[in-house]
Amino acid sequence: MDFGICSATKLILTAHLLLLAGFSIALPEYSISNSNSTQINSNSVLVALLDSHYTELAELVEKALLLQTLEQAVGRHNVTIFAPKNEALERHLDPEFKRFLLEPGNLKSLQELILFHIIPTRINSDQWPTHSLSTHHNTLSSDHLHLTREQKSGERIVGHAKVIHPDSVIRPDGIIHGIERLLIPQSVENDFNRRRTLRSITAVKPEGAPEVDPRTNRLKKPAPPAKPGSPPALPIFDALAPGPSLAPAPAPGPGGPHHHFNGEAQVKDFIATLLQYGGYNEFADIMVNLTSLATEMGRLVSEGYVLTVLAPNDEAMAKLTAEQLSEPGAPEQIMYYHLIPEYQTEESMYNAVRRFGKVNYETLRVPHKVVAQEADGSVRFGSGDGTAYLFDPDIYTDGRISVQGVDGVLFPAEEMKPVEKEVKVAKVVTKTRRGKLLAVACKMLGALGQDSRFSSCH
Ligand SMILES: *[C@@H]1O[C@H](CO)[C@@H](O)[C@H](O)[C@H]1NC(C)=O
Ligand SMILES: *[C@@H]1O[C@H](CO)[C@@H](O)[C@H](O)[C@H]1NC(C)=O
Ligand SMILES: *[C@@H]1O[C@H](CO)[C@@H](O)[C@H](O)[C@H]1NC(C)=O
Repeated sequence: MDFGICSATKLILTAHLLLLAGFSIALPEYSISNSNSTQINSNSVLVALLDSHYTELAELVEKALLLQTLEQAVGRHNVTIFAPKNEALERHLDPEFKRFLLEPGNLKSLQELILFHIIPTRINSDQWPTHSLSTHHNTLSSDHLHLTREQKSGERIVGHAKVIHPDSVIRPDGIIHGIERLLIPQSVENDFNRRRTLRSITAVKPEGAPEVDPRTNRLKKPAPPAKPGSPPALPIFDALAPGPSLAPAPAPGPGGPHHHFNGEAQVKDFIATLLQYGGYNEFADIMVNLTSLATEMGRLVSEGYVLTVLAPNDEAMAKLTAEQLSEPGAPEQIMYYHLIPEYQTEESMYNAVRRFGKVNYETLRVPHKVVAQEADGSVRFGSGDGTAYLFDPDIYTDGRISVQGVDGVLFPAEEMKPVEKEVKVAKVVTKTRRGKLLAVACKMLGALGQDSRFSSCH
């Protein structure tokens, strides 16, 4: 995209962002939580916007230096974002207006323009006013927006723009609707016109009824309820078997398995890949032997859920002490904490932490989250003592399961007790093909007289 922004401006913006990033890394842990910088969740609508195909809008948000403002907004309330399709910002915009927006002196106008596309509340497509009505909403800018319907077709309209992709992105803290063109608030239009001394026409070319785009017919149709490959309706936590426990408790999924995907084969495939990759034998062993985890993961993937596995490497696993494994079920708890119910690659995680500083990812160990931040040009998970770097990126990525190698075993911050580094017990355990974690777990179960429940301990 060429908005005609001069390279000096770019440089300044980049330097500014880098400065911010560097600053937040340099800060010690406690002062970060004391400052006003909110921690954004990885499933936030804001992260989704920056990763979406609305790349032109995402770029403008960054150019307008609005990330922090928006982060704070989604921390306080849900948002509805009207995202113009890329073409609306690329080709269909008056070049002179575009230049105006990107001039450093007009940053306020650019910010107003973007904030005009965001309503500080959640409006799903089914909450749109019906034919004869129109609703009036405050936006994050000083201007307000009207939601209406097109009289004949009943299509949803916001301001002067047709909604071409309702409910394009749905997240817990907000929703994105794709719209056919940019919304220009009166205040920005006035600013622009004030600067244009020669011509008095307005930036927004007056247009009649929206033209019939051949593609519109296709987009108008409501999405079929559950076409193969569509994400499941229920959040993954509802599909998860109740609580990780040593006795496997298989739970029926939502409406039973759909079997659009062969999740079990994919899980087997990623374990085989890990073994081939080398350096992840302990983790692979546990996947196969210790728990019903592989089965559970296979089932979730079969039902259409996606997973990112943070796999600690063998060196990290070897550092686990017997104390850390002493509670019954501890090994399984550890494993669940390394499973993120999202599909993330190294690139997507790195982009997220670079933009936001800190990102929280949900884990399957409900309700614990794992925090990620940028460090040394990589992604670092966890905080305090228990951190792990993304060490081997994208070991396995098939679109449903993503495996990222990390160099540490992670524990929820809430549980970070000062670990006795001197504990020698683990050293007594002989290193067998079976893996240390498994061996230690079996030993402890044996001590509790429970190992017979566990076929892999024999
Ligand atoms: C946090 O925000 C409050 C008001 O919103 C402000 O008074 C305070 O100075 C801010 N603190 C920091 C560290 O920015
Ligand atoms: C956003 O909306 C969801 C459901 O509509 C609600 O559960 C959640 O609490 C809201 N978040 C905020 C910050 O208001
Ligand atoms: C699982 O355990 C069995 C016996 O304990 C062992 O032979 C097998 O290699 C283990 N599986 C993997 C993938 O390591």
